[in-house]
Amino acid sequence: MKILMIGSGGREHALIKKLLESPKCTKLYCAPGNGGISRDAEIVNIGVMDKENMVKFAKDNAIDLVFVAPDDPLAAGMVDAFQAEGIRAFGPNANAAIIEASKVFSKNLMKKYGIPTAKYEVFDDPEKAITYVKAENTVPVVVKADGLALGKGVIIAQTIDDAVAAIKSIMEDKQFGDSGNNIVIEEFLTGPEVSVLAFTDGKCVKPMVSSKDHKRAYDNDEGLNTGGMGTVSPNPYYTDALAEECMETIFKPTIEAMNKEGRPFKGCLYFGLMMTPNGPKVIEYNARFGDPEAQVVLPRLKTDLVDICEAVIDEKLSDLDIEWYDGAAACGGYPVSYKKGIEMFGMDDKGQVDGAIVYHAGTKYENGKFYTNGGRVLGVTATAATLDEALEKAYAAVDKISFEGMHFRHDIGRTK
Ligand code: AMP
Ligand code: GLY
Repeated sequence: MKILMIGSGGREHALIKKLLESPKCTKLYCAPGNGGISRDAEIVNIGVMDKENMVKFAKDNAIDLVFVAPDDPLAAGMVDAFQAEGIRAFGPNANAAIIEASKVFSKNLMKKYGIPTAKYEVFDDPEKAITYVKAENTVPVVVKADGLALGKGVIIAQTIDDAVAAIKSIMEDKQFGDSGNNIVIEEFLTGPEVSVLAFTDGKCVKPMVSSKDHKRAYDNDEGLNTGGMGTVSPNPYYTDALAEECMETIFKPTIEAMNKEGRPFKGCLYFGLMMTPNGPKVIEYNARFGDPEAQVVLPRLKTDLVDICEAVIDEKLSDLDIEWYDGAAACGGYPVSYKKGIEMFGMDDKGQVDGAIVYHAGTKYENGKFYTNGGRVLGVTATAATLDEALEKAYAAVDKISFEGMHFRHDIGRTK
């Protein structure tokens, strides 16, 4: 099969490495990819939002399967565009990707179908939102832009003044553009966070092994919220009993709710959960694999990913038994600030440590050398029998790599 991956980050690199394990995959392209991905797949220079040229490329090259990994093209109907031309594509249609693309939609969906989530109000007028937070006078309070905002549209305000400033910057200064035309103001929840990615064909839902993201930029959970500084799998807080409860109260009801709304979800649905004192609640949905969750979940996948993609597209997921490797995986990344074009040293595909893998998120490859080129730069993953061992190996692999301005957290897998 000729496969086209759409995207350019560490998540896409992890998906590519997994697809390459499949005996069915004879040729792999990635648009637009990155330096590390160029070592594993043929790079196609088409932007992730360019539906017309993506479809043309797939037709001209007789692509058998397209994998749409990032949120923006999914929300913009990339999968719909391929389907319209009879090309098989993995990922939700635009009308289902809205579960991530609009927080107003997802909150209203959860309320309508009784899926546990934080209490909230929706506003399209900043004055009304400000009057509301002042009247409620409870902090912390969470202010969220409705639309996609590169994972940065959530502000946890510790004071009413901060909440007012957040409302103004999102709704008046349009910090996130039109994503901030509407906002959600919600109750602050507490408890360990758990990420569960699940395959679903719209009929059945098969959760993957759990993971835990570390979102704050610095050690001890200090600093800004980022898209994710590192991940571990399994999530130590996610017991079998919690998994069963989430299946009954969250996973199945979400799939059913989307069907009832006439928006069947097919692809990978990401449940961002919080284990609150009142039970598991949904913090957010993503319509895709998480980044860097994919970098710890996928190395543990035993079943052929191509088979899973086909079962999802053909709505035959219930017939497929999805298997996982026991043990644990840990991934540390290098995000936050970075400079472009800095030469990177110690770059080996296997992280020069047995059991480690270096996923590239923002690199360029030129004349046999890697250079920083943006985003998270790298994610270094290791798998082992236990989490401690996986962490030790991942950090040993990190130690082999160096470049100017390199920043990573030293305590992934060690904090709540
Ligand atoms: P989101 O982009 O919705 O995942 O939010 C980013 C992060 O903000 C989450 O991973 C949580 O750590 C935090 N967060 C979002 N909503 C809430 C909430 N209602 N209560 C507490 N923390 C939250
Ligand atoms: N790591 C969270 C996300 O992919 O949105």
